[in-house]
Amino acid sequence: MDDFDKYFTIGQITDLHVGRKIPFPSGEMDLFDRLVKAVDHLNSIGPPLDMAVVSGDLANHGKEEDYLRVKSELDRLNFPYFIVMGNHDQRETLLKVFSDHPYLVTDDEFIQYTIEDKPIRIIALDTLEPGSHRGLLCEARLKWLEEKLSEQKERPTLIFMHHPPFDTGMPYPDNLGMNGKKEFGKVIKKHPQIEAIASGHTHRDSVLLWNGTVVYVTPSSAFSYGLEFHDVDDLDPLNEPPAIRIFRWDAEVGLVSHLSFIGNYEYGITEGVPEPPKN
Ligand SMILES: [Fe+2]
Ligand SMILES: [Fe+2]
Repeated sequence: MDDFDKYFTIGQITDLHVGRKIPFPSGEMDLFDRLVKAVDHLNSIGPPLDMAVVSGDLANHGKEEDYLRVKSELDRLNFPYFIVMGNHDQRETLLKVFSDHPYLVTDDEFIQYTIEDKPIRIIALDTLEPGSHRGLLCEARLKWLEEKLSEQKERPTLIFMHHPPFDTGMPYPDNLGMNGKKEFGKVIKKHPQIEAIASGHTHRDSVLLWNGTVVYVTPSSAFSYGLEFHDVDDLDPLNEPPAIRIFRWDAEVGLVSHLSFIGNYEYGITEGVPEPPKN
């Protein structure tokens, strides 16, 4: 067994918003082009990732034609990927387009599932509340989660969900935040096997120790919203470097998070290790 068999890597991309075009002074940004770059970026990482999770807002208007374009790109990934619902997503249309994804089933109206055959257990939650940009974890969804977590109390677990379960201090995204945070927190607190929760939605990077686990908010692989702590009516998109997150699970170390910026950035020239000063 070489070193690469000892760990397991999961790429997270989020908030693709395909179907939207954003005018910038430097020219129009078609977010489909951003997805192409994100897929290339994920495929360029070596050794290859083991899997990816796409944590919501795949298509900006939930249209079938856009999901088809999203699927054509995601299918280029060199490893399996799994989908989580976002507030811009449309469950029925997404299920129709991704009908070859057997885990996308609806026993009830929600698309929640577990992935059991990996070194770290993965649980995907559905925070979509149709007609609202705010998210929700209702009683039914939390009951399902509690049952799943109680099934395997010893197994390290990583939860994916679209909406962050905490207020970031940025009023604009917080106004579009999640209902049911407190009740969700009570469930999480009871289960120390949860290594982390990974979310998206705000299009910015944030991290919080919350109810005994770490919550990551991953930036969009398409575009960002600015760091704005004032209460503003609207927020313009910002052309910061888009990013993905990589989780590296090593049973001896734990779950390490790495943010990786999409794009070509210069390397400096190595000058060697400086000599320690002599006295
Ligand atoms: Fe989004
Ligand atoms: Fe969102």
